[in-house]
Amino acid sequence: MATSNATQLYTPLTDVAKILINAGATTRGLLFYENGNRFLLQRAPIAGILPSKARQSRECRMIRLDAILWHLRRPRDLPAIVWKNIVLTFSSAGAAARAATRAGRRWDRALGVDTVGLIAGARLGLAKTGGYGGIPPLIAEHLLAKVIDRTTGFDFLDMGCGKGRMLLIAARYPFARVIGVELNPALYTIACSNVEKVRKRNTNLAPIEIVNTDATVYPLPPGPFVLFLYNPFVDDVMTQVARRLTDSLKSNPRKVFIIYFAPAQFSFFDDPLFKKQEVHDLPNDPMDLLAHERFVARIYETRS
Ligand SMILES: C[S@@+](CC[C@H](N)C(=O)[O-])C[C@H]1O[C@@H](n2cnc3c(N)ncnc32)[C@H](O)[C@@H]1O
Repeated sequence: MATSNATQLYTPLTDVAKILINAGATTRGLLFYENGNRFLLQRAPIAGILPSKARQSRECRMIRLDAILWHLRRPRDLPAIVWKNIVLTFSSAGAAARAATRAGRRWDRALGVDTVGLIAGARLGLAKTGGYGGIPPLIAEHLLAKVIDRTTGFDFLDMGCGKGRMLLIAARYPFARVIGVELNPALYTIACSNVEKVRKRNTNLAPIEIVNTDATVYPLPPGPFVLFLYNPFVDDVMTQVARRLTDSLKSNPRKVFIIYFAPAQFSFFDDPLFKKQEVHDLPNDPMDLLAHERFVARIYETRS
């Protein structure tokens, strides 16, 4: 798997945190084993290890620096990038993207978090992903409203939670647990920091857990749950996640809803286990950085 500069820089920090936890620096981390691999489940941000305010802004600066280095390492792409930026400066699409970014920053400021921005998958060092972008909040609320009257007490699982925007929105609803799984260590660190900040001010949130691991190995909740996917990955990664879900439902039948926003590939959950509903009435969201793509969503629900 390709590894970006950012990932190389962050990984040792994450490893140090894991070693400290494994060495018993905290009792709030929970180790578990699956298929011979050892994973760390972090039930809450861990004081002293996860991230200080300074550390969080350093992570953000490193992501920005990595973007610049990424372009400088590819001089052949520079003319296209310069042209794209000229076009974006003067086009209506560029103006809309800047307005959406400003709206996103206002949303972040109101909560004291950092969730705004788009980061290409290659820059995250992740193969088979569309990259990072937080779900526009009005769209998130609209999709949640379609299932929420039937999911009280369910777990909510965001596979590919990025900086945790959807977690912060879902935690305002009556879920038993809101769980985020994120493979990129820098985004995971920012998500932990965001959750910690919001939780300090709002004690009415559902419990939030964030795990720095691959969605293909994360053990699915044993009870009923809502699986949320904002186009996190494609191809064989998605095939594995979908197969693990259908296998899990066959061995342990339970109620599951899948909210799949902006699907790059639709067919993964087309299984007799699920009823499906197309969602075409998504609201216009002033924070939507990709409004021009006119995404749709699909909601699947187990039949039993
Ligand atoms: C489009 S973002 C969605 C962010 C978040 N769900 C939201 O709606 O605000 C997709 C995320 O999936 C993550 N991702 C990609 N492949 C992954 C994998 N195999 N396991 C876990 N996360 C992954 C990316 O790093 C990225 O942050």
